[in-house]
Amino acid sequence: MLPPEHIPVMQENSAPRAPHSGGSTPIITVSGVDYVVDMAGKPLQILKGVDLAVTPGEVVAIVGPSGSGKTSLLMLLAGLERATAGRITIGGTDITNLDEDAMAVFRRKTLSIVFQSFHLIPSLSALDNVGLALEIAQPDLPLAKVREAAAAALDTVGLGKRLDHRPAALSGGEQQRVGLARALVTKPPLLLADEPTGNLDQNTGAVVVDLMFDLARRNNTTVVLITHDPNLAARADRSFTMTQGRLSENTGGAH
Ligand SMILES: Nc1ncnc2c1ncn2[C@@H]1O[C@H](COP(=O)(O)OP(=O)(O)O)[C@@H](O)[C@H]1O
Ligand SMILES: [Mg+2]
Repeated sequence: MLPPEHIPVMQENSAPRAPHSGGSTPIITVSGVDYVVDMAGKPLQILKGVDLAVTPGEVVAIVGPSGSGKTSLLMLLAGLERATAGRITIGGTDITNLDEDAMAVFRRKTLSIVFQSFHLIPSLSALDNVGLALEIAQPDLPLAKVREAAAAALDTVGLGKRLDHRPAALSGGEQQRVGLARALVTKPPLLLADEPTGNLDQNTGAVVVDLMFDLARRNNTTVVLITHDPNLAARADRSFTMTQGRLSENTGGAH
């Protein structure tokens, strides 16, 4: 059996989740964020006065039409792009003005991303795709522990019998479950997912999102899920809509 500190997604947590409201300090605070890019010499405003507060362990979804700015907001939350105005605080760190090195440390300690197109390394087995993420996050972890934890994470997403498969030998849904195992093996406080079901059929996508929410809730991982599927968004604790760079909370129906 594996030491529990290395198998985050395996840990059963039968205790009820902490309530989301009622004064819990947010893990994500976005206030008054504008995001402007240069488009052929002209400023193009992508995000306009975005406000968002997410409490630890909360699962939120963001829907909205293509081009409305959802991915841009995710990139800002991930510290991969920088806000033009306003402030973003994550896990108590104001990331608005972090330098590149501090930002890289923040990313490694704080979050994982699940992408629409999986972004698995084709030449590596499922086990090594997941293990590599853990090696990067914890360079001092012995290789045997890395492999144990990667195998455990894959087992948790139902791929315990696919450890040696390369991505090309896995279905789309299985590849995305590898992506999920890779994201969660490092035990991030925050999971960001950008249209993770966009390349999957509807049923497979629903299974992957259910799995993602279930694992997140068991581990008290905060999730920001971007999706254009309102049915998936309705499974989150709260949902928001992005419309032409403005974010608003959906009321009624998300619970
Ligand atoms: N770096 C950039 N330079 C120019 N335009 C961009 C850049 N990033 C995003 N955009 C534009 O901003 C808008 C929002 O993009 P995005 O955040 O990807 O939207 P969504 O994820 O909701 O589809 C789109 O019109 C996109 O073309
Ligand atoms: Mg997008």
